[in-house]
Amino acid sequence: MQTTDWNRQLWYGGYKWDAQGEEWSAAWGGSEPQWFGSLYPRLHRVLPASSILEIAPGMGRWTKFLLPLCRNYVGVDISLECVRGCQKTFADAHHARFMHKDGYSLSEVEDHSVDLVFSFDTLVHAEFDVLKRLIPQILQKLNERGVAFIHHSNMGSVGAEFKDAPDFGLRALSVSYKNIEDLIVQSGGRVIIQEVIDWGSGKVPRDCLTMLARGDGQQTDPVHLYNLQFMEESSNIRHFHAPYSVRLPDPTVPDTVSCQDAVEVDNLASQTALQRQGTPTKVLPVAADEVADERIAADVAVPRRGGMESPRSSKHRLQ
Ligand SMILES: C[S@@+](CC[C@H](N)C(=O)[O-])C[C@H]1O[C@@H](n2cnc3c(N)ncnc32)[C@H](O)[C@@H]1O
Repeated sequence: MQTTDWNRQLWYGGYKWDAQGEEWSAAWGGSEPQWFGSLYPRLHRVLPASSILEIAPGMGRWTKFLLPLCRNYVGVDISLECVRGCQKTFADAHHARFMHKDGYSLSEVEDHSVDLVFSFDTLVHAEFDVLKRLIPQILQKLNERGVAFIHHSNMGSVGAEFKDAPDFGLRALSVSYKNIEDLIVQSGGRVIIQEVIDWGSGKVPRDCLTMLARGDGQQTDPVHLYNLQFMEESSNIRHFHAPYSVRLPDPTVPDTVSCQDAVEVDNLASQTALQRQGTPTKVLPVAADEVADERIAADVAVPRRGGMESPRSSKHRLQ
């Protein structure tokens, strides 16, 4: 059983964060192709978002993509090492706060204030007792039109016999797509989409991506997807998207200047496009730590320069 204490001990002192989590993106060729090839396509209707809450940013593997797409960002993590790491890495992002929390509580985040709650590659290790406390709070933090996207375990559906399989990845055994859907509904929310996915090798449906919202918003029937091609998708992304993440030599832009220096940024939509231009560096699998450092340096420039003037327009929201 993956307790919160187990998580805290592992991620604070027990794990070598040299590559800042970039190592977990190797199957996609790096965090950049994974973001633009796998995560962003699932989130594009809800980004940019005025206010983002990220549960468990770790060392900021997704934070660097989220920050240029919001005006307010809060990251909560149980590892003080990660909180300090993000505070240092994103010191120039004045619209971001990183908070050390106990793993159960989202207090300090204002109720009904958040457009997007995001958590990826973390709550797969959280058992049902943790989600039972987090999900009602997630719903409480969302505003009327807000949406949460959380990645959690589905091992409760798969069965404990798979826990010794390779790539089990320390998934929580007490969580399934179904008990999370029931919990969301009992907590006054609704499921928009649940996508059961494979992870690692063997096409085992061990994880689930759940997009949820408050129950008092527009009602739509929940969509349930069963996708055992998630890792196949990663392989396509690695082969056919990742090469586009290589920075092309541009004689008009000095090496030390990011794309953001060269172009006037006046709204969030154009920042999305700029981010695509500004972040490319290298493709994994190669020295992951170099990649992360270089990308972060480019990305944190965006909020400083852009001014973050435009709130998310209604046409960008999930209807
Ligand atoms: C595998 S790392 C992933 C970090 C980041 N999401 C990523 O994908 O790079 C797991 C992170 O989750 C944090 N964590 C685990 N359980 C948590 C909880 N209940 N609340 C907040 N943070 C948690 C850990 O401290 C660690 O930073």
